[in-house]
Amino acid sequence: MQKKDRYHVAVVGATGAVGNEMISILEERKFPVADLRLLASERSIGQTLPFNGEEHEVEVLKENSFRGIDIALFSAGAARSLKFAPFAVKEGAVVIDNSSAFRTDPAIPLVVPEVNAPALARHKGIIANPNCSTIQMVVALKPIHDVAKIRRIVVTTFQSVSGTGQKAMDELLEQTRSLLAFREVISKVYPHQIAFNCLPHIDVFLPNGYSKEEMKMVHETRKILEDNSIAITATTVRVPVFRCHSESVNIQTEKKITAEQARELLAYAEGVSVLDDPSNNVYPLAINAAGKDETFVGRIREDESIENGLNLWIVSDNLRKGAALNAIQIAEHLIRE
Ligand code: A2P
Repeated sequence: MQKKDRYHVAVVGATGAVGNEMISILEERKFPVADLRLLASERSIGQTLPFNGEEHEVEVLKENSFRGIDIALFSAGAARSLKFAPFAVKEGAVVIDNSSAFRTDPAIPLVVPEVNAPALARHKGIIANPNCSTIQMVVALKPIHDVAKIRRIVVTTFQSVSGTGQKAMDELLEQTRSLLAFREVISKVYPHQIAFNCLPHIDVFLPNGYSKEEMKMVHETRKILEDNSIAITATTVRVPVFRCHSESVNIQTEKKITAEQARELLAYAEGVSVLDDPSNNVYPLAINAAGKDETFVGRIREDESIENGLNLWIVSDNLRKGAALNAIQIAEHLIRE
């Protein structure tokens, strides 16, 4: 990408939960934006969104939407990315795609800047932003992997409804209201009631019995850590939380690492904040991580049931580090390098 003082930026899916967050993070971090093009579906015609004190009109996403664009941030679902990203690239834009469309393509870098920024150099127009659950896990595990080499990961996630999008946040709110008022509960986004419930079901189920979300964690973690030998098994669960994903992560390493050593390593790791004083009720919580940039790690303890095992509790804001912030950190790297 040509170096400039200011860049023409497009946000595809600007009216969605992640798109909205992208717009506010661009503003917050003073990204050098020359011009912001907001793109969504025909449903959003006539809508405006604020950026840097001005209202910007939302335009309909079309093949010719990318003329003059330098950076296109996509978050409108994989089908839109597959169809429209090539048009953006043809116009000379770099696409940073938040969908799953390109993540496992070996020719496309899948990047978490704190973990594998050098992979950005290999991009040919499209860079994939990993799945939200994967991002926060690799941010916390990379420093441990570097010193002790992770052999196996067992992860269970507790994922907020904002990962599904705005409609799911509306559904949780509406169902909670209905239940408290003894009204009938209607489920449209999820196959079951999400309010006061946990659904061990994220994305579609695959022939191996895992959900697609679970297998994303397996494949994406290996790709980002550049280590296909790591054994990974995941159980992903949707919980009635609006924002932030929590994860219980158990690892087994080749070299012994004590809980104290892990705590120290993580205290200095980029993007990580250790909150680990259980006797004073200090551990990462979704409600405290909301709106923050860091990945919070706590409950670090040695797994007494295996050799070289460690347990961690990892929490981060899925709309920020898990999606919009990571994408914009990628863009910041691109314009810096
Ligand atoms: P729209 O609001 O016009 O439907 P979320 O993940 O929160 O559900 O948001 C999805 C985002 O993707 C929204 O901005 C939505 O726009 C956008 N989107 C969905 N389908 C299309 C489409 N066919 N063309 C363009 N944008 C789309």
